[in-house]
Amino acid sequence: MALINILLFSLTFQLLLLLRVSSESSRIAGDVSGIPTKFLDLAKSPEVFDSMVRIRRKIHENPELGYEEFETSKLIRSELDLIGVKYRYPVAITGVIGYIGTGEPPFVALRADMDALNMQEALEWEHKSKVPGKMHACGHDGHVAMLLGAAKMLQEQRHDLQGTVVLIFQPAEEGLAGAKKMIEEGALKQVEAIFGIHLTNRLPFGKTGSRAGSMLAGTGFFEAVITGKGGHAAIPQLTIDPVVAASSVVLSLQHLVSRETDPLDSKVVTVSKVHGGNAYNVIPDSVTIGGTLRAFTGFSQLQQRIKEVITKQAAVNQCNASVNLTPNSKEPVPPTVNDKDLYKQFKNMVRDLLGEESFVEASPIMGGEDFSYFAEAIPGHFSFLGMQDETKSYASAHSPLYRVNEDALPYGAAIHATMAVQYLKNKALKGSDSANGSHDEL
Ligand SMILES: *[C@@H]1O[C@H](CO)[C@@H](O)[C@H](O)[C@H]1NC(C)=O
Ligand SMILES: *[C@@H]1O[C@H](CO)[C@@H](O)[C@H](O)[C@H]1NC(C)=O
Ligand SMILES: [Zn+2]
Ligand SMILES: [Zn+2]
Repeated sequence: MALINILLFSLTFQLLLLLRVSSESSRIAGDVSGIPTKFLDLAKSPEVFDSMVRIRRKIHENPELGYEEFETSKLIRSELDLIGVKYRYPVAITGVIGYIGTGEPPFVALRADMDALNMQEALEWEHKSKVPGKMHACGHDGHVAMLLGAAKMLQEQRHDLQGTVVLIFQPAEEGLAGAKKMIEEGALKQVEAIFGIHLTNRLPFGKTGSRAGSMLAGTGFFEAVITGKGGHAAIPQLTIDPVVAASSVVLSLQHLVSRETDPLDSKVVTVSKVHGGNAYNVIPDSVTIGGTLRAFTGFSQLQQRIKEVITKQAAVNQCNASVNLTPNSKEPVPPTVNDKDLYKQFKNMVRDLLGEESFVEASPIMGGEDFSYFAEAIPGHFSFLGMQDETKSYASAHSPLYRVNEDALPYGAAIHATMAVQYLKNKALKGSDSANGSHDEL
């Protein structure tokens, strides 16, 4: 009995606390009480959940690489048609931009990427990739499904939206700068803020992570051909050996981070490719090396130093070198930097939606994301959505064993929808504040 009393008391106390906390955070985030849980319940309902799972599996079966997402794009458009959302197409070849709401400012954008990777799926399951050598191993199939789930819920609320939600389905996130092309083709026209979510196995199921400021590194690639003069391996004096030159280059590149970078500033230079020669007794004419660089600051200086070290080290060894900083058209991607105010809004929203402990302050990581182009152009916020279980059975992104935990999809859809609605509400609140409270529809 006493135990029950204590329990009851602590329950009541917690409830009071909850009420206090949520009224506090809604003061910060505008009057949004009730919205978060409403969207999460909706997203978990069979109507929304089943359609997300169906969409995700269909896209998973037919993975398409960057700028080739024609069927994925078609599926997205037919889903938007089905719920009566108007869209622009094509943008950046396969991209689709949907619009929900008044059609008037303010405009707030939600983004999903559509492309798959050049790799073979190693898992056997009912909806395995049907295309040999291509696979959705970064969760972009899930991202599309989550945004379409959010679209469905937002469209049902379209008459209550105080502005326009812009749904950005972009091509070519994996190294081909689809976001940049979308922006060049006007995707952000009039848009004031943008939100993106990435599924991850690095966080437990139902938790989300983000941080204010720099979250993902600027990412670039390099490839160099080091040319000497081939010949007999036993008569080296008549050759100019590019293998030795390339070896010096690889070692010298290590000094850029270890000797030229502030130890408290994170940078990476990795040589991940070395190709040259194919006989035991022949010195080849040339060697090709390639790799990646990562940095939060001083990106272009690092690029220039990589170029310099390669050409000058080659020269010391009497070789010539040509350096390509966009091999296979892989363009460098700027660092992903989260807007401070949007981060605050996100953090409060997660607390309301999923509880205090569900928000994880993310550490910066050296991975790259082309969402950075959007967040460079306008205030943006990128977050991770956890899907890992206790047995750690979900493999990391880009693994041939990668799987999406489909139970995370409703969380993604609800976060998307809530962020957009809250953003528009806050905007309207601010607007009516500056007009001295004449709008009382809030
Ligand atoms: C390097 O380039 C210079 C100038 O084009 C050329 O004269 C020289 O033969 C080249 N050396 C090698 C090893 O290819
Ligand atoms: C709102 O009204 C108050 C007092 O009536 C006034 O001092 C203030 O400047 C007004 N603010 C704006 C943004 O019009
Ligand atoms: Zn990826
Ligand atoms: Zn990705």
